Amino acid sequence: MHELSNLIQLCNNIYGEDNFVNSIVWKKTNSPKSQASNLGNQHEFVLVYAKNIENINFNKNIGVIGEDYKKAFRHNDNDGRGPYQTVALIAGGAQRSENRSQFEFKGVTEQWLYKKEQLEKWWDENKIYETNNGNYRLKKYLKNVEGKLISDIWIDNEIKPLQGGTSEYLGFDTQKPRSLIKRIIKLIDKKDITILDFFAGSGTTIDATISQNKEDGGNRKYLAVEMGNHFESIMIPRIKKKLSNSLFKYQKLEQYEDTLENIKFESNNLRLINDYDDYIIKYMLDYETKSSVLNIDKFDDPFNYKITITENKEKIDKKVNLMETFNYLIGLKVKTFDVYNQFNRKYKVISGKKDDESVLVIWRKTIDLDLRADKEFIENELNIDDYKKVYINGDNYVENSLLIEESFRKLMLND
Ligand SMILES: C[S@@+](CC[C@H](N)C(=O)[O-])C[C@H]1O[C@@H](n2cnc3c(N)ncnc32)[C@H](O)[C@@H]1O
Repeated sequence: MHELSNLIQLCNNIYGEDNFVNSIVWKKTNSPKSQASNLGNQHEFVLVYAKNIENINFNKNIGVIGEDYKKAFRHNDNDGRGPYQTVALIAGGAQRSENRSQFEFKGVTEQWLYKKEQLEKWWDENKIYETNNGNYRLKKYLKNVEGKLISDIWIDNEIKPLQGGTSEYLGFDTQKPRSLIKRIIKLIDKKDITILDFFAGSGTTIDATISQNKEDGGNRKYLAVEMGNHFESIMIPRIKKKLSNSLFKYQKLEQYEDTLENIKFESNNLRLINDYDDYIIKYMLDYETKSSVLNIDKFDDPFNYKITITENKEKIDKKVNLMETFNYLIGLKVKTFDVYNQFNRKYKVISGKKDDESVLVIWRKTIDLDLRADKEFIENELNIDDYKKVYINGDNYVENSLLIEESFRKLMLND
């Protein structure tokens, strides 16, 4: 609420003012706190921006059809088409204008909302209702209504405020109701979208995506990012519970603090770090410590590459999956992953595509490796001629191959 004006500014900068779609109000609580001087706050906003407003195609009829709504369909011709309500065929209120042409239909000259041919067609199909005062309206059948039309005010019973003491509420301060996120997801008329939440909190977006997929057979994917400790204590247990018998994957990214932990200073200059301003310190970190942030020597045993991190206030060495990190760094779309046992070690071989080029990535421990035998095995057994680029870690004699460490360094450190 307090951040609304900042958020609008931010979104306008990112998406452009023209791509603003809606600002939605939702009722976050049934019982507002009675503040001393101002009115109790009961609502929040959802800002909707498009990447390109031209391409927006919302599902607007997604409100649940309850008994109250059904009551409005009070007519029935007993012709098998079921109950219906009637809606206007003639322009009314703000819809009327001098520019809208008038024409005559069944003796009534009016500003009709549809073309005459359409009205004739409906007439023949017995879809036009004649009112007591000789006017005409369209029959709207309940069976054709997918859902209730929603607007930008979400105070209906479907968007239930989150309540303490329910199984949904996890005690997380800023937790949003699952029903709110589900409605946002349902606005998009495709069921195979990927939903990104980079401030995932307690994981409501993931929960809502899984629920919505279950409900309508959708195949939506989710990607969530969170930096707080509640990632471990609240979000992961929540997803595990939700997905009782399927898999999800999560990764810990190296933290800024971890990076600092791994820096080994090469000169003594930084002992005087307090004497320098921020610019100089950044310069020193950039140029004097580059080689130690990424310890290239260790790629000779790539499946045991470790970095020092701080966990529960203790420094521990943690294994890093270099193969996966490298795939991400070069933007590889992985197709196959094979493991070969050769020369008392594992060869882990990944094939895939990058910018439509076929790529092979070969990883193995290079300590005590006979490089001639290694070359023979790679060139004869791994079909490397089928690939445009072949990356290999560490020492090797394979012709025309690219050194993983070199690309790694370039991409990680912008060398
Ligand atoms: C308002 S909460 C999200 C609540 C969430 N929608 C839910 O229903 O639980 C915002 C979250 O963003 C996280 N956050 C803030 N800055 C972040 C950042 N730079 N990277 C990752 N997460 C961040 C916070 O730790 C917090 O959990």
